[in-house]
Amino acid sequence: MTASHDVIVIGSGAAGLTAALALAESRRVLVLAKGSLTGGSTAWAQGGIAAVLDAGDTFEEHIRDTMIAGAGLNRRETVEFVIEHAPQSIDRLVELGVPFNQEAGALHLTREGGHSQRRIVHVNDATGWAVQEALLRAAEANPNITLLPGRACIDLITGRNAEQFSGSGRVWGVYALDEASGRVEAHVARATILATGGAGRVYQFSTAPRGATGDGIAMAWRAGARVSNMEMMQFHPTCLYNLEVKNFLITEAVRGEGGVLLNPRTGHRYMPDYDDRAELAPRDIVARANDSEIKRDGLDCVHLDISHQSPEFVKHHFPNIYEKLLTLGIDMTREPIPVVPAQHYTCGGVLIDLAAHTDLPGLWAAGECTESGLHGANRLASNSLLECFVFGEAAASDILARWDTLDHPPAIREWDESRVTDSDEEVVIKQNWTEIRRMMWNYVGIVRTTKRLERAQNRIDLLGREIEDYYGSFRVTTDLIELRNLHQCADLIVRSALKRHESRGLHYTLDYPATLPEARDTVLIP
Ligand code: FAD
Ligand code: SIN
Repeated sequence: MTASHDVIVIGSGAAGLTAALALAESRRVLVLAKGSLTGGSTAWAQGGIAAVLDAGDTFEEHIRDTMIAGAGLNRRETVEFVIEHAPQSIDRLVELGVPFNQEAGALHLTREGGHSQRRIVHVNDATGWAVQEALLRAAEANPNITLLPGRACIDLITGRNAEQFSGSGRVWGVYALDEASGRVEAHVARATILATGGAGRVYQFSTAPRGATGDGIAMAWRAGARVSNMEMMQFHPTCLYNLEVKNFLITEAVRGEGGVLLNPRTGHRYMPDYDDRAELAPRDIVARANDSEIKRDGLDCVHLDISHQSPEFVKHHFPNIYEKLLTLGIDMTREPIPVVPAQHYTCGGVLIDLAAHTDLPGLWAAGECTESGLHGANRLASNSLLECFVFGEAAASDILARWDTLDHPPAIREWDESRVTDSDEEVVIKQNWTEIRRMMWNYVGIVRTTKRLERAQNRIDLLGREIEDYYGSFRVTTDLIELRNLHQCADLIVRSALKRHESRGLHYTLDYPATLPEARDTVLIP
């Protein structure tokens, strides 16, 4: 089946729905999502959205904080572009009905690591869910938007898939697996936007949802787009340590509101030993400190303690976390929370410009699947949702501005299943998933060495042959699509990490502990 649309948006998180809503003023938009429409990271965001809204704050300070956290690898023009558009993005969310917390008639601003000011707007400790709901409500009400969940996109359609074969990298849409019927559909359009989120699940421990398998990054790479800074994988310092609940985040705002980190063996508050900003140092520093305490003392976890604040204060600021922890037998108003670092955010991705355009004609990208230049070597807390809103809008504006120059898609070949059969050994998928994620955690984690990266590269090469053989022989399933993409992203991360001969931001290697005088992006060319 081939279906034709004006614009296709792949992903129904903050970036995808922002773009779809802006485009739908004049164009018909198809939004495709793997699994449910709320399955991305957006719905899980806790802390909030950074924006300069207080009279005592300035764009310049937010820019400086972003560049300090990013260890100078950020592109200044992108940082300025995003931060200067932030207040406008918040206004639009308020118009859409996001019920941000208020205090004394103004938006309440909380604080997170790396921010020199209180500048995070939030909805209690579940900001992402409120944002996702508001965007989805607006999209569902818009007659120009068709939402199609349960579609796992496999590969971008380019000139190579046209009936009149052409070597052109022009993107015409995407092949997508209907997860219910198992059939593969071809969706074509004059413009396509990737908004598929990050690749966090490439690591064994991650705060990201199950579907964060880097599909968009891998699809764009295979279609011929450059990716950059994939070695910059962010680890959040405080993921709940619990043997049953493996990926529950304890928001950085707990530290912003006074929470301290303690060594459970000695009770010592150790962050001031590592950095003058103590618990509010940028994430890479706090995550490395936690990792170092855990490894040095052979601990299972460290402790995050906010029990010195009144129970009313804690319950008022963190109602969802408080309730969730109570169900696990932890009362955060009286006792510390056991926490460990876990992968949290993919700073690298598909290279885009300020118009959210990728290298490939017909393809735009926004949100966590991109490398826009905003985050550099380490994302500043709560700058990510903001990036989704600003670049979702930018993609839509650029497509609308160029509309008359965008050609209609040519006739496209249907998905060819003539040479594959149903799999008779699903165990291969499970084994490879587990192997990649464990290997990435152990060899390509918070602290790296060249030897370990080389070991990882050898294993990735080996697994690659097995996965490609399997992919070429059997009908696609969502698990297989994700495994292929996880493997692709692991390869991009390791290759990028091996190219960086310094320690900067999130890339910390014992073999090159110094930071080079000049900050350079790691750009991989397909
Ligand atoms: P997502 O919201 O992840 O959406 C991706 C979409 O793409 C989904 O709809 C998914 O189904 C779809 N998709 C993926 N692959 C395919 C495919 N193959 N085919 C079809 N569809 C596909 N950032 C902040 O700024 N503030 C915070 O407080 C904050 N808290 C966070 C807390 C947690 C626990 C996590 C995990 C992240 C947090 N972040 C936060 C980061 C932020 O939530 C994400 O970076 C952001 O939501 C990404 O939005 P997105 O639109 O790019 O992608
Ligand atoms: C958090 O609430 O700690 C996450 C914020 C973010 O990832 O930006």
